[in-house]
Amino acid sequence: MVDVSRYYGTGEGRITALSHVDFDVKAGDFTVIAGLSGSGKSTLLHLLGCIDKQDDGRIIIDGTDTTMMSLEELAPIRLEKIGFVFQSFNLVPVLTAYENVELPLLFKGLDKHTIKARVGDILDELGLNERKKHYPREMSGGQQQRVAIARALVTKPSLILADEPTANLDSQTGTSIIDLLIDLNIKKGVSLVLSSHDSVVVDRISNIVYISDGSIKKASRKNPP
Ligand SMILES: Nc1ncnc2c1ncn2[C@@H]1O[C@H](COP(=O)(O)OP(=O)(O)OP(=O)(O)O)[C@@H](O)[C@H]1O
Ligand SMILES: [Mg+2]
Repeated sequence: MVDVSRYYGTGEGRITALSHVDFDVKAGDFTVIAGLSGSGKSTLLHLLGCIDKQDDGRIIIDGTDTTMMSLEELAPIRLEKIGFVFQSFNLVPVLTAYENVELPLLFKGLDKHTIKARVGDILDELGLNERKKHYPREMSGGQQQRVAIARALVTKPSLILADEPTANLDSQTGTSIIDLLIDLNIKKGVSLVLSSHDSVVVDRISNIVYISDGSIKKASRKNPP
């Protein structure tokens, strides 16, 4: 992100959600965006994830300048490169765990056989095999968030964006979700950007970017590699 700004509304009621933000994610990074409620964390992640458009500045993903591209034109980039995990899981309620995870692969148009193998593998890996046929309402918050992570991972994205993935979970379940994400980062080299205002989460990750009133105030790396 180069000098990116995002405004909501017009005239006197205009809100600056992000103001002249420069932000860089390198392959294999695990970065936490920390900041108070309303500071601009979700806005930043939505822009990075190509599910919202900036009003100013440039966003370059893997060498492609997305600035002039519409959200529709960005769909293939989202599908190929990025997985998104939301605070409230955002699973499709009328689909089972298996079907929720299968969805992005159906969009990609993969054949049935490959889809079955990939979905099976990822559900296995995240310990969800027993929950395959269950609907979101039949699962705990932690299980639903693991299904959401499986859905984000199944396309083998190089970048996962997670917007307060532990906010709706108790602290023990939240910690296990963070452990899972750290593991994915280390073992699979998936780049991760996660937002949180929970110090338990922030303290676990070495690369922290602090945001306040839509501006990045400070970046720190506690344990440089
Ligand atoms: N659709 C919208 N319309 C108007 N204002 C918005 C909209 N979305 C966000 N904002 C405003 O933009 C600012 C940044 O919001 P954002 O959702 O990015 O904050 P956040 O850091 O994710 O907060 P939280 O921790 O509560 O999720 C806030 O002042 C918010 O009220
Ligand atoms: Mg938010």
